[in-house]
Amino acid sequence: MVIMSSPLTFQPVLQRIAEEIAAAPDRGRPADYIPALAACDPHSFGMAVAELDGTVYGVGDWRQPFSTQSITKVFTLALDLAREGDELWEHVGREPSGNPFNSLVQLEYENGIPRNPFINAGALVVTDRLHTRTGDAARTLLDFLRAESGNDQLAINKDVAASEATRGDRNAALGHFMASYGNIENQVPVLLDQYFHQCSIEASCADLALATGFLARHGIRSDGTRLLTQSQSKQVNAIMLTCGTYDAAGDFAYRVGLPGKSGVGGGIIAVVPGRCTLCVWSPGLDERGNSVAGVTALDRFTTLTGVSVF
Ligand code: DON
Repeated sequence: MVIMSSPLTFQPVLQRIAEEIAAAPDRGRPADYIPALAACDPHSFGMAVAELDGTVYGVGDWRQPFSTQSITKVFTLALDLAREGDELWEHVGREPSGNPFNSLVQLEYENGIPRNPFINAGALVVTDRLHTRTGDAARTLLDFLRAESGNDQLAINKDVAASEATRGDRNAALGHFMASYGNIENQVPVLLDQYFHQCSIEASCADLALATGFLARHGIRSDGTRLLTQSQSKQVNAIMLTCGTYDAAGDFAYRVGLPGKSGVGGGIIAVVPGRCTLCVWSPGLDERGNSVAGVTALDRFTTLTGVSVF
């Protein structure tokens, strides 16, 4: 059933989804491998939709900042692609991995070239290259998110970054292993510090829906300047669709039908090219690291509105 015929009616759809989520008992469990995230309340829920002109609709905890985590991989990819173009693809692939986000298993067979920019190995390569090109990848990312969201209060949570570093052995292993193939440009500890700070940026659903807008505007930033070519914007959206939720990307495409990117903080961003962007947050995760209520809410959004890329 399609209950929405015009973007002006996004608010009732969001309200209805929030009511359905409130009645759903299964919320999953917050990430516990990062101690600072384990304390999140799985019953938190927020959702925002931003139109191309920056109009935002929201429900629940949509203004509450949360840990962005792997959602940031979309923005570092865009920021690096904008600088170096296709050369990036000599260092990271564009295929779904079918494996968990922090898996090492394919790297040796594939000579230190990660499958895609959204698994941890691929994100480390992208951050490394962005760091070389900007001198401070995490700062470049934070500045971009502030500018696109219009929120200059966005910040890195240093406690979360430190907390990640205490559990950083797997990311360190990925970094050193890729460095052994010559696929990392910076010192691995420098890269890890950048990556942990990148993941620890906090932002709300409203901030992230707005910051993702350039992917719905075919590469155009909120100030009207171009970050990506139309073709690059299409490419980033395509990689989100096929790789944005790791070994659940097929199921996410089946249920939601939109390019999306999750993070273990419980957030998910999604893009309807030419129309709007979404961000949903609920910290309870499924066994693949995606927000249980978040995926359900996006599934309900595309089902109720009929808005999808398919
Ligand atoms: O690399 C990590 O472990 C985290 N900082 C980010 C992982 C993440 O968000 C994976 N997403 N679902």
